[in-house]
Amino acid sequence: MVNIGSLWQYLAAHSPLQSTLSSLSTTTMSGGALNLTQMGLAPYSLPPLPYAYDALEPHISAQIMELHHGKHHQAYVTNLNAALASHVSAVAAGDVAAQIALQQAIKFNGGGHINHSLFWKNLAPPGTEETNPAVAKELVSAIEKKWGSLESFKKAFSAALLAIQGSGWGWLVKEAGNGAGLRIVTTKDQDPVVGGDVPIFGVDMWEHAYYLQYLNGKAAYVENIWNVINWRTAEDRFVGRNEENVKTEL
Ligand SMILES: [Fe+2]
Repeated sequence: MVNIGSLWQYLAAHSPLQSTLSSLSTTTMSGGALNLTQMGLAPYSLPPLPYAYDALEPHISAQIMELHHGKHHQAYVTNLNAALASHVSAVAAGDVAAQIALQQAIKFNGGGHINHSLFWKNLAPPGTEETNPAVAKELVSAIEKKWGSLESFKKAFSAALLAIQGSGWGWLVKEAGNGAGLRIVTTKDQDPVVGGDVPIFGVDMWEHAYYLQYLNGKAAYVENIWNVINWRTAEDRFVGRNEENVKTEL
C-alpha cells in the first residue's frame, strides 16, 4: 500500500518542474511571500469597462455597476493573483498537497475574472445600435433555425436563467467541433465555459448583479437584460471576428 506522505515526497522529488524552479526564490529577504510581479511574472489586472458606470441605466444602475466592476471583479483579480503566486511557491517547493489545495481558489477566482471580462463586453448602453439584434444577422439566423424565432430563444434563455439555484451564470454557447450548433448552458458559482465551447454571451445571475436595484425581482432583471445585450459582440464571437471580442481566455 502506498503511504500518502511518501507519495507527496515522491512526486515532489520527481516533479519535472523541480529542476527549473529550484533556483527560483519565492520568499523575500524578510521571509514574506512574494507576489507575481516580484517573481518576474505578469499579474492579471482589472480590464476597464467599455462604457461609463451609468451607461446601462435604467436597466442596470450605476451603483450596481460601480460595485460589480470596481469591487467584485477587482476582488476576483486580486485573489487570483494571490492564489497563483502561492501556487508558484508550492511548485518551487515541490509541495504537491499545497498545489492541490489551491486549485479551488484558482478555479473560482480565475473563473470570476474570465466570466466578468466576457460579460462587460457582451453588454452595451440601451438604445445603441449594438443592442439591436439586426446587427447580428448570422447569429440570429442560427438562433431562428434552432429555436424557431428570436422570441422563443429569449423565452428559453430567460427560463434557464431563472432556474439557476443559488449563484451562477447563463450562457449562449457555440458548441465545439464541426457541428458548431448553439446551446444554452448554465454554470455554477464562477465556473467558466470550458471544453472548447465558445461563449456568445453570458448573464451574471449572482445577487450582486441585480439585488441593489431589483431586490428579489429577479425576473425583472432578466427581462430588462435584453435591452443591454451587445449583439455586435455576440455576432463577432459567433463568426470568430474581432479578436478582442472573440477572446475567451485571458
Ligand atoms: Fe458578478
